[in-house]
This record gives sequence, C-alpha cells and structure tokens, in this order.
Amino acid sequence: MIQYCGVSFKNPMVIASSPLTSTIDRLIEAEKAGAAGVSTKLAFIKQPFYGKLRMHTYLKNGSIICYDRRHDMEESLKLIDEAKKRTSLKLFANITHDGTDPDGWSLLARKHEEAGADLIEANMVCPNVGLSTRNIFGSEAISSSEHGGAVTGQNPERIAAIVKVLKDSVKIPVVVKLTPNVADIGVTAKAAENAGADGICVAGAQSSLPLVDIYNEGKPGYHLLNGVAHGSLGGPATKLMGFSLVANIAKKTNLPVIGGGGLETWEDSIMMMMWGATLVTVCTAAMWYGWENIAKQVEGMEKYLQKMGYDDYGQITGKSLQYLRSSKDLEALKGWASVNTEKCIGCGKCEKPAHCDAVRMVNKKAVIDPEKCVGCGICEALCPVKAIVMKQA
Ligand SMILES: Cc1cc2nc3c(=O)[nH]c(=O)nc-3n(C[C@H](O)[C@H](O)[C@H](O)COP(=O)(O)O)c2cc1C
Repeated sequence: MIQYCGVSFKNPMVIASSPLTSTIDRLIEAEKAGAAGVSTKLAFIKQPFYGKLRMHTYLKNGSIICYDRRHDMEESLKLIDEAKKRTSLKLFANITHDGTDPDGWSLLARKHEEAGADLIEANMVCPNVGLSTRNIFGSEAISSSEHGGAVTGQNPERIAAIVKVLKDSVKIPVVVKLTPNVADIGVTAKAAENAGADGICVAGAQSSLPLVDIYNEGKPGYHLLNGVAHGSLGGPATKLMGFSLVANIAKKTNLPVIGGGGLETWEDSIMMMMWGATLVTVCTAAMWYGWENIAKQVEGMEKYLQKMGYDDYGQITGKSLQYLRSSKDLEALKGWASVNTEKCIGCGKCEKPAHCDAVRMVNKKAVIDPEKCVGCGICEALCPVKAIVMKQA
C-alpha cells in the first residue's frame, strides 16, 4: 500500500486523464489491468467547445494532442458515481475552469466530492484551453473563457487563489496538475504548496507542433484537421523532461509528487519514482499498446520490489535525488573509453563522431588513445555490441 495525501493506493499506477478514463467501461479495464487509480477525463461546468480526439502520433517518439472530447460536469459526476459503485479504483477528478472565477472551481470540486471522488486534480496543465491561443496571438487575444488549464498554471497568484478556494470547498485532498511551460516549475509548485495544496502532478504537456510534409508546401501530415494548434506533447519524448520536473518539485517543496510523461515500461516508472514521484501516471503507452502495457508495468514493478528486497514503494521514492546537484558542483572524474577487443566487431561506428580524435580502427578493432579521449561516452552509447565502457582512472 502507498499513502498519497492520506489516500491508500495498492500500487503506484494511476491512469492519466485522457480518453482512457472517459467511460466506465475503460475504467473497469484499467482496474482489470491492475491500476490502483485513475484521473477521470477533464471536466468543465460546461466545456467552451466540443473537440473530437485529434492528435499527431509518432511511434517511439511522442504524440501531440490537438484536442479531445471533454466532459461537461454532469457527465463527469455520473462517471465518478458509477466508478465508485463498480470499481475500487482511487478516483482523481480532473477539473478545470476559468482561472479568474474561483466560484466555478469551487462548484466543480464540491460536486465531484459529493459524487465520490477521492481526490481533486485541478487541471492547470491543458494547453488546449488557452495556451494555444496565447502562443499564436499573445495574451491580449485570450477571452475570458480561455483562462483555464495551462494559462492558469503559468500564474503563481492565480494558482494560489484557486488552491485556497478549493481547499475551503472540499475535505478531500487537492492535487494540482501543473503545466511544464514555465521557466521554473519549482515556483508554481511552491505557490500551490503555500496556498495549501496537498500534492502536485506533472506529466508531459510541453507545447509542441507536428512534423510537416516538406514535399507538400509544409502541410502537416495528418489530414483530419484544417490546420494545427500548439498542442500538448506526450509519450517517450517527454520522459527525461518529466524526471527533471519531478525532481525539481521534490527538491523545492514538501509535497508528494505524481510523475508521468513517456512511461512505457516498468523500469521507466521505477526511475520516475527514484526521481521523486510517489505515484506514476501513464497515458500514451496504453493508448498505443493497450491495457496489457499497464498490466506489464504493474507486474514488473511488483516483481522488482520483491527482487530488490524493498519492503514498500516508499523506499524507492526519491532515491536518485541524492545525486542531484547544480552544474557548478559537478566534478568531472578522470577516465576514458576502454575497448574489450574480444567483443569488438570492427564496425567502425565509434570512429565516426566528428568531435572525437581518440578512436582509430586497427586491424578491424577499435583502439582508443586515452590522452585524446575527452570522456564524453558517445562511443559507449554507439557500440552495438557493448564492447566499450567508460572507465574511471
Ligand atoms: C488524447 C489525450 C487526452 C488528454 N486529456 C487530458 C485531460 O483531459 N486532462 C489532463 O490533465 N491531461 C490530459 N492528457 C494528458 C495526459 O493525462 C498525460 O499527462 C500526458 O499524456 C503525458 O503522459 P504520457 O506520456 O503517458 O501520455 C491527455 C493526453 C492525451 C494523449
């Protein structure tokens, strides 16, 4: 069991708010796959426009969400109510509203608490509400209905004002899902903490644009949209950025963090926890590879825990933070690349890097000049047979 903001989760796996969490049938599938919790599809009191799921998909890399069908409050309450009756999932109600109207936030939160939500997830991340307008036309063009999502999440005062109202409105924990599209996520996370938030969630959502067809006047390759908007990035491309966001928040606040973005394997999820996450979220991997991806991740994490002799997930959370320091405090250790000549197949890949004078091929084997090796480690990464390792002097 994991305690998150006083709520018990049987494991760290939470299905992120998305089409995966928009119907009761899918929530039941999520539970069957082993998830401990779900964040239900984003709810507005009344959504400003009805989008259909449109996204750009680049397997192995990432996806950009242009928009998705959200829930109006009544649909969302019904979903929470049904999920409460038909599953034992822990339910985050993912809600958003105009950042200038705290009363609306309060209404959404109270209603979702009454319906049975276990936690409120205040959505200050979704770029499709206003950020995509701001990114093209600037702040001036944002109408009052577009102050939700990521636009609110960029403004520490507004975050604080809404968190205070939410905390006054409900007894269940209030988690804030923050946009990464800020200079320092530590500042916005701290604003949420100071206002009384119980936890922070971060996952993907970097503002992005798709690939374009260079042989067709730069038109984006996906055809079921009349153009593009700055969209929200998810999938593998966001994983390393996710580590950074989570670690930053874990260092700068005392709030428990939910971390996601590009988690495709159980190893990814464990790493996210080691960077400071108490719970993890997955969306794109299940949208691409199905519920079995979730089942594999949960099983893998549980087996890992046993194999490594950890008593609980709490022993993993934040383990890597001890290695986090500022660049100026990093000390470069002396060393160089070393070749295992028996393994070397003489492919010459390690000889190619344009910045490197240290590698030569002699009799179809890589030879390193330690004097010239700068220690970057690129040859180690390039070697297809793992014949090169960086050795400390
Ligand atoms: C199609 C789609 C719809 C999404 N809708 C929501 C949403 O309604 N609310 C929200 O907070 N995040 C939403 N997200 C973001 C995900 O919850 C998740 O945080 C993000 O995709 C990063 O995780 P991933 O790399 O595992 O996909 C959506 C993502 C996708 C792909």
